[in-house]
Amino acid sequence: MVKVRILGDEGAVAQAVARRVQRLLASAPSAVLGLPTGRTPVELYARLRRAHAAGRVDFSRATTFNLDEFLGLPPDHPGSYRSFMDEHLFRHVNLNPRRIHFLHGGAVDPDRECARYEAAIRRAGGIDLQIVGIGANGHIGFNEPGAALSADSHRARLEPGTRRSNAALFGGRASAVPREALSMGVGTILRAGAIVLMATGASKAPAIATALGGPVTTRMPASFLQLHHDVEFVLDREAAGTLR
Ligand code: GLP
Repeated sequence: MVKVRILGDEGAVAQAVARRVQRLLASAPSAVLGLPTGRTPVELYARLRRAHAAGRVDFSRATTFNLDEFLGLPPDHPGSYRSFMDEHLFRHVNLNPRRIHFLHGGAVDPDRECARYEAAIRRAGGIDLQIVGIGANGHIGFNEPGAALSADSHRARLEPGTRRSNAALFGGRASAVPREALSMGVGTILRAGAIVLMATGASKAPAIATALGGPVTTRMPASFLQLHHDVEFVLDREAAGTLR
């Protein structure tokens, strides 16, 4: 049963998820976090930075694993998700760099890189709290809708719409967005102890309604979250659309 929380606006969504991270790290300082990129978590990371500066959250013993990365981009490329995380969170908080984990977009052997990542997650004891966003087409991480989904971390081909929605990272040019990525699989996400999906804005409302109310299907990757025992959707009014 998916828990659903509908809040007034994007700031309230960010605040609720930031509080959840703060509570987790207060009770379990060495917790393992799964982290997303995209526009949606920008405000979440701003709040965590502020909370850290005010001494309200300590990341010194925490471990992080990011969901996905563009294939072919080295970590220091300005369009990489790693650069996004450095800018929005990592550079500003006291995470131990050795406990920050990322799929390496520049890996020469992507399959081996994905196997390494799965092994690193296992070695860390699994992800305690996985935070995800959702694409307008229902993707989570870079698990795009299709005839089949991958359980584990894998190499993924991006839909044109997904490349367009990532264009801002590449000077607004969708053609500059890589065609492929590395991503945790749906199974990687479902193995987390708890999952929070955050979504804001009207463009997400149709995907949210189908992910929650429709059948579990590879055509709507976020629908697989219905199978998890501890999942919460934290939505603003617009993303909640007509849900009641
Ligand atoms: C991107 C990312 C996802 C993210 C989603 C939504 O392509 N790969 O991890 O959740 O799309 O992005 P946004 O928050 O910018 O709408």
